[in-house]
Amino acid sequence: MSTRLCGNWNYPTTIWAGPGRIAELPAACSLAGMARPLLVTDEGLTDTSMIKSALAALDRAALQGSARNGAALFGAVRGNPALKHVEAGLQAYRAGRHDGVVAFGGGSALDVGKVVAFMSGQRRPLWDFEDIGDFWTRADPAGIAPVVAVPTTAGTGSEVGRAGVILNEETHQKKIIFHPKMMPRVVISDAQLTVALPRDVTAATGMDAFVHCFEALCAPGFHPLADGVALEGLRIIHRYLPRACRDGGDIEARAHMLAAASMGATAFQKGLGGVHAIAHPVGSWFNTHHGLTNAVILPYVMMFNRSAIAEKAELVSRVLELRGRGFDGLLAAVLELRRELGIAHALAGLGVSADKAEIIGREAAIDPSAGGNPIPLDAAKLERIFRAAVDGRLEAVGGP
Ligand SMILES: [Fe+2]
Repeated sequence: MSTRLCGNWNYPTTIWAGPGRIAELPAACSLAGMARPLLVTDEGLTDTSMIKSALAALDRAALQGSARNGAALFGAVRGNPALKHVEAGLQAYRAGRHDGVVAFGGGSALDVGKVVAFMSGQRRPLWDFEDIGDFWTRADPAGIAPVVAVPTTAGTGSEVGRAGVILNEETHQKKIIFHPKMMPRVVISDAQLTVALPRDVTAATGMDAFVHCFEALCAPGFHPLADGVALEGLRIIHRYLPRACRDGGDIEARAHMLAAASMGATAFQKGLGGVHAIAHPVGSWFNTHHGLTNAVILPYVMMFNRSAIAEKAELVSRVLELRGRGFDGLLAAVLELRRELGIAHALAGLGVSADKAEIIGREAAIDPSAGGNPIPLDAAKLERIFRAAVDGRLEAVGGP
């Protein structure tokens, strides 16, 4: 294996990158200070050989304690995870008297794993820690268990994020649970774990990372660190996502995509924008895939933001070495990328209808992501963008 695809990085947390490095999972757990981890994963991964061998490796390492009270598996996580998934995970965590979490899987498993570790020593209910103002200071930092994160998709970047998105089924709202200490202590970024990912999931998750980089770059505010990371993330995804989709076994493309996903989440500490603001309620109401939803909505929000992002679009078009420059060149490239990846042009193609347009507009306006949009958004504007995206009519977006 080429050593140039390997590296140990220390920002924004400790990342061990390289194909095959899952072999170092027991060492990562030791470094994070856990002896009896609960391995949290997606329902669809529980019977895979990668999860079985990870558990076996943890057992073999005999991280103190007997098998009866050692590492254990919690695999009841589904897409768009809800409070009940967190509660079931917490029950498993407490029953096994675990001292940390290995969050292993796609964005949903990573988010649930991180939130279980966060909630393990809290006395307040989950929704008290929503990412609003300084709510996070309500948490007892001593009650937050450590996390080792192992992503198996390249998109969400949750492995380097300080939040988890959990669905409140009573209100149908996705809530962002935030605390600085939710950042995983160690990340194992092993591209080998992503080669079996189907083409459509590779495309959808990869586009989530693209949107993270793009919205972070376009978010207002002085943050050259985030801007630099976002710009390189965009270049990597534009170059390697089509390759990873064409040939899932292209380990070089997979390794770059995994890095770019972490870069997207690193960059969006600066902020997100209208794409995520709309995608969150759409996912809550229509149970659509998060990355796919973002991929469909992106060009509509770009159209709305057109007057505010001309300079950034010019920069991106140069870095990506696009045929056409500026906003028009970039929009054309985004549409071409989506076509190449087989992503629908309209939300209607995902089974989303306009009958909830008013609610989507309202909820998008209060989504924390909305604040990062380069042009201020309100419910009416978001409803207009959403309706245009449902119908697939870019020209119907209009200006701010
Ligand atoms: Fe996202």
